[in-house]
Amino acid sequence: MSREAQLFKLCRGSFGQVRSIHRASTSQAAAVQAKEKPVKNKVFSIYRWNPDKSDQKPYMQEYNVDLNACGPMVLDALIKIKNEIDPTLTFRRSCREGICGSCAMNIGGVNTLACISKIDTSGKSTKIYPLPHMYVVKDLVPDMNNFYNQYKSIEPWLQRKDDTVKKNTEYLQSVEDRQKLDGLYECILCACCSTSCPSYWWNGDKYLGPAVLMQAYRWIIDSRDEATTKRLDKMRDPFSAFRCHTIMNCTRTCPKGLNPGRAIAEIKKLLGGVAKKEEPHLKAVA
Ligand code: SF4
Ligand code: SF4
Ligand code: FES
Repeated sequence: MSREAQLFKLCRGSFGQVRSIHRASTSQAAAVQAKEKPVKNKVFSIYRWNPDKSDQKPYMQEYNVDLNACGPMVLDALIKIKNEIDPTLTFRRSCREGICGSCAMNIGGVNTLACISKIDTSGKSTKIYPLPHMYVVKDLVPDMNNFYNQYKSIEPWLQRKDDTVKKNTEYLQSVEDRQKLDGLYECILCACCSTSCPSYWWNGDKYLGPAVLMQAYRWIIDSRDEATTKRLDKMRDPFSAFRCHTIMNCTRTCPKGLNPGRAIAEIKKLLGGVAKKEEPHLKAVA
């Protein structure tokens, strides 16, 4: 073996040793730390329903979680329960940072995202249900099919009369036109707003609900889109948009701080002829 190869082997060996010593000491430190902290129990009362046990009604199940051995968010507690206490507990999650919308559920009476909801440390138990007034697939997982079909029905993509979108033409929006999309495009379609809306609870088969209406408005108001009349005409019936009674539960609950209630009010103004979409300020670049 060459001198360089011998040196490399020697270095790699000692680096590996240092790494494993470091790993051992870190995990030992964590174990000591966890031991030193007293147990801080928190009760989570969680909605359970299993479609495979059709004779069993939904029920609430309580879990004790040591907050000193758990992350700070409700999703951390749910993951801990699933990993360490009850692997049958079912819920959706993906990004764990308020981006995907998967972990939307009703926590302590509020529709929100589990991953960005801090655990209530006041000592009271926290009740967790699936999003209200939705069919339940299992435990905390709601059936989102109706919601997604409604989203599909508003054709959430850019439409041009001359079909130039397909011919690789780029339409540069003015800064002012682009700003009209702020507060709309950030929606993550978590459905917290729609499932907090009493009108949507009772008419969700025909009323589009705040999330989908806000997305409809996002395309209606886009200066590059030319399907405005078609989009509005689809909503002129008594249900699609006019079932909103401006109760504003939607805006109050949105975990992203958006205002679907305002977007619906803007749609109503366009439908009623009180407002008109402004002429676009576009620069086409082929
Ligand atoms: S408006 Fe807010 S609550 Fe409603 S779907 Fe979008 S992000 Fe969720
Ligand atoms: S403002 Fe409209 S969409 Fe929002 S909660 Fe009220 S009725 Fe529902
Ligand atoms: S896990 Fe993605 S929003 Fe909560």
